[in-house]
Amino acid sequence: MEKHDLNNASSLTNVRLSAELPPEPQFDSSMRRAPDRGYSLSRAETITAVKNALRYVPPELQATLAPEFLNELKTRGRIYGYRYRPQGRIYAKPVDEYEGNTLAGRALQVMIENNLDFAIALYPYELVTYGEGGQVFQNWMQYRLVKKYLEVMTDHQTLVIQSGHPLGLFPSEPDQPRVINTNTLMVGMFDDDENFRKAAAMGVANYGQMTAGGWMYIGPQGIVHGTTITLLNAGRLFLDVSPSDDLHGKTFVTSGLGGMSGAQAKAVEIAGGVGIIAEVDRSRIVQRKEQGWLSKWSDDLSQVIAWMNESVERGEAVSIGYHGNIVDLWEYIVENDIPIDLASDQTSCHAVYDGGYTPQGTSFEEGRELLERDRDEFKRRVDASLRRQFDLIRAMTQRGMHFWDYGNSFMKAVFDAGSTDIATNGHDTSEGFIFPSYVEDIMGPLNFDYGYGPFRWVCLSGQHDDLLATDRAAMECIDPTRRSQDRDNYEWIKNADRHQLVVGSQARILYADAGLRVKIAHGFNKLVCDGVIGPVMIGRDHHDTGSADSPFRETADISDGSRIMADMSAHNFAGNAARGMSLVVMSNGGGVGIGKSIHAGFGLVLDGSERVNAIIENALTWDVMGGVARRAWARNQNAISTAMEWNRGHEHVGQITIPHMPEDGLVEDLVDRDPN
Ligand SMILES: NC(=O)c1ccc[n+]([C@@H]2O[C@H](COP(=O)([O-])OP(=O)(O)OC[C@H]3O[C@@H](n4cnc5c(N)ncnc54)[C@H](O)[C@@H]3O)[C@@H](O)[C@H]2O)c1
Repeated sequence: MEKHDLNNASSLTNVRLSAELPPEPQFDSSMRRAPDRGYSLSRAETITAVKNALRYVPPELQATLAPEFLNELKTRGRIYGYRYRPQGRIYAKPVDEYEGNTLAGRALQVMIENNLDFAIALYPYELVTYGEGGQVFQNWMQYRLVKKYLEVMTDHQTLVIQSGHPLGLFPSEPDQPRVINTNTLMVGMFDDDENFRKAAAMGVANYGQMTAGGWMYIGPQGIVHGTTITLLNAGRLFLDVSPSDDLHGKTFVTSGLGGMSGAQAKAVEIAGGVGIIAEVDRSRIVQRKEQGWLSKWSDDLSQVIAWMNESVERGEAVSIGYHGNIVDLWEYIVENDIPIDLASDQTSCHAVYDGGYTPQGTSFEEGRELLERDRDEFKRRVDASLRRQFDLIRAMTQRGMHFWDYGNSFMKAVFDAGSTDIATNGHDTSEGFIFPSYVEDIMGPLNFDYGYGPFRWVCLSGQHDDLLATDRAAMECIDPTRRSQDRDNYEWIKNADRHQLVVGSQARILYADAGLRVKIAHGFNKLVCDGVIGPVMIGRDHHDTGSADSPFRETADISDGSRIMADMSAHNFAGNAARGMSLVVMSNGGGVGIGKSIHAGFGLVLDGSERVNAIIENALTWDVMGGVARRAWARNQNAISTAMEWNRGHEHVGQITIPHMPEDGLVEDLVDRDPN
């Protein structure tokens, strides 16, 4: 062990950016660019921000780069260090093509570069993968430095990353994490948008979304399975669709063809229904159509409705893009009295005033321009548009349509825009909103309470054949007769390749529970050990049973008062680190915005070893059952039965605390009768 460290000591002194000035940045004009995030720092803060960025740069380059950094700060609101972006395309290459002393170091480079791929990232030049502001790193200097560290890291070291910044390599052991990563963990009283914006402008905070800064994004596929499950279950719950049937003849209207919202088009087709998805950004529609994720599109409202009606009549599955504002689509539907069965919204309302939502009457391009010129006017228009959208959706629900919030903070944004009647009690959000969140009705009770969540994997060889072998192996692990969720999973994985879901790395998503995740991971590790496939990275979205404390989304269905606590995600992160996951991550605000959630993620490299088999058993079990245990303690009925079943099967290895339930009425009567 000692010898290994000493051998690498010389290479460690070279982990710094080169003294050679990178060439001027080149930008492909067809790529989407992040809007100006706004410059509002004081003189002293501006000086600190530029000095902060110069910390990465050798002294001989600082006089040249200081004015460039200042210009970026003033014109883009952030210092990205564009010059340090390597020219040309960045994408996930086969793991063997990366430099590195460890498999984990090379594997994590695959994951990082997938998040920055032109075909995947929302604003690749600004390191934004998805969700308007979800960045892999704050700037390209961090990207370069992290890559260098991952190349030299040995399996006796851990790389520590804080908001994209590599703090350094520290000694550790082979069965401990190779990377520990956090994003924008802010001190409570400063944990809000305003302080985040300032911290990000100063180069000390990275909004990592759930899997951008967590390096586990697998393209739009990552959300397709969850969206398909949500749609199918919405049909079963609200429209009496039988569990063995699909959504043929049923209509779904929503918005957004972005990073995750783009999954809606694919999912509605897989679920067998007819969907119209409004999208203001033409480049998004064209990209989704080219990727085979959208069947057809038009900017003519009468045309999209005619297509919808034809497909409903034929009972055929189709996704139709409407190039235009979702509010215009709703207006047309309401005015023409067009019946719609199911509806949602996936504009980026978690960043509603930062360009995530384009207001009605303003084109995408005008919105971008207005955001730069007059933020106050942009905000006024956003508020008016959200209020109008809410009125139209409410009119439709009164006619029988079912609407749910899709984890994008839509209802909170409508409330903040002034329509307080979207709150259940009409004046504050403490009792929730009048429409259910998809977690309250569907994802929470039907999936998270049982431990089913967005387990995913990436075949690091980049070989499609490896992915097919893992699909088969996963299918063999599923008993479709156990529960309806397992039958859905079986169908999903059986047809996954046919649906051509891969964009970027050879990855797959599967909503598995604890037992299934462990079984599948052991199966994959054996395939790697036997040389049938190359190494595999397993991980998940942070949007899972035990990893996200998020009262407006993942924990919206927790009603013992602990929705405002973040203990669960902290334990998820610590527990996974202690049990030796290759990568552990903890971040602030994913999905719903800064200050509104704390969540954790992991990555584990399957190298075929016995060491990894032990980590699979302990860490994967903890990762899921920690969440089921918390949900059970919150008195969620399905979680209690899942926890009790786990207790029965694991008598000699562990135990989950089960709550005692008072008799119905005992406490209510006591409180009502209490004279004090
Ligand atoms: N469903 C889920 O499981 C899930 C999971 C994670 C996140 N989310 C949330 O969903 C939201 C979308 O995520 P994303 O990654 O797709 O973000 P994104 O920013 O990549 O995509 C949102 C899209 O909405 C479009 N848009 C904005 N305003 C519009 C309008 N008025 N009319 C029509 N189109 C409009 C934008 O042009 C953009 O393409 C985020 O808030 C995200 O946090 C949902």
